[in-house]
Amino acid sequence: MLQIPCATTYIGCIGRDKFGEEMKKNLKLAGLLVAFARQIHYLEDESAATGTCAVCVVVEKAKYLYIAGFFLTVSPDSIQLVAEHAAENNKVFSMNLSAPFICEFFKDVLDKVCSEHFAVMYMDFVFGNETEAKTFSRVHGWETENVEEIAQKISQCRKASGTHKRITVITQGLDPIVVADDDKMKKFPVIKLPKEKLVDTYGVGDAFVGGFLSQLVQEKPIEDCVRAACYAANVLIQRSGCSFPEKPNFK
Ligand SMILES: Nc1ncnc2c1ncn2[C@@H]1O[C@H](COP(=O)(O)OP(=O)(O)OP(=O)(O)O)[C@@H](O)[C@H]1O
Ligand SMILES: *[C@@H]1O[C@H](CO)[C@@H](O)[C@H](O)[C@H]1NC(C)=O
Ligand SMILES: *[C@@H]1O[C@H](CO)[C@@H](O)[C@H](O)[C@H]1NC(C)=O
Repeated sequence: MLQIPCATTYIGCIGRDKFGEEMKKNLKLAGLLVAFARQIHYLEDESAATGTCAVCVVVEKAKYLYIAGFFLTVSPDSIQLVAEHAAENNKVFSMNLSAPFICEFFKDVLDKVCSEHFAVMYMDFVFGNETEAKTFSRVHGWETENVEEIAQKISQCRKASGTHKRITVITQGLDPIVVADDDKMKKFPVIKLPKEKLVDTYGVGDAFVGGFLSQLVQEKPIEDCVRAACYAANVLIQRSGCSFPEKPNFK
């Protein structure tokens, strides 16, 4: 979406082994090496095997941080560290709700990052779909199924740093996107698509957030962020799997 080389960096360490080869091969297949050659930095370590689950995240240079809620199942402590770093350094910290089960089973952990029940509230942007919003509402005993009301309530939860207002963005498939801060609520229509053009919706949630963030990092207004989000989601669902054209035609 940005069309800026090296705007994002893909880093890691691999061993000189089968898994390392696999990583390089798959990146090549994904076209990453062609389009973003300078952004991939692998340290090749002959003395160690390629890790199959460890990830190293660089946060200090980043100004915008986004963590998918699924990561709560991996390391809430890491999320806490990143969230605190963002709050202390006036950076924008965002998460998504990821899945209803994340809202249910990890209520306590999520609350640590997002709720009035705990003293700390780090999220500047919260993304989710309608099912996740409703689950979030239920497990917090809010007694409302109204997505607009829930979005606003999420935005009203206590905040750790005062610099940014929390904005909650809830998608509802074909229905309008709900965007709420603590006192305002707006709805945005999705881009309609004739049925025969819809291929599949794999990754549409991620594409939506990706499009949104591409404008946010350029300090564009929320309207532009949502427009880009819808654009990216719309492009993705017209293609098979999680693929996208080399150049966006978003204006
Ligand atoms: N059938 C559709 N036609 C047009 N746009 C769509 C369609 N489905 C999804 N979108 C677009 O994608 C956005 C996100 O869709 P949705 O609410 O289904 O996400 P999600 O449930 O989080 O997806 P995921 O399956 O990735 O978790 C919508 O706001 C809309 O812009
Ligand atoms: C919202 O996303 C979850 C997975 O995160 C999915 O199970 C659910 O069906 C989605 N809701 C809608 C209405 O698409
Ligand atoms: C949240 O993130 C997960 C994991 O990246 C993704 O599968 C899901 O579609 C996302 N949902 C939204 C609404 O952003």
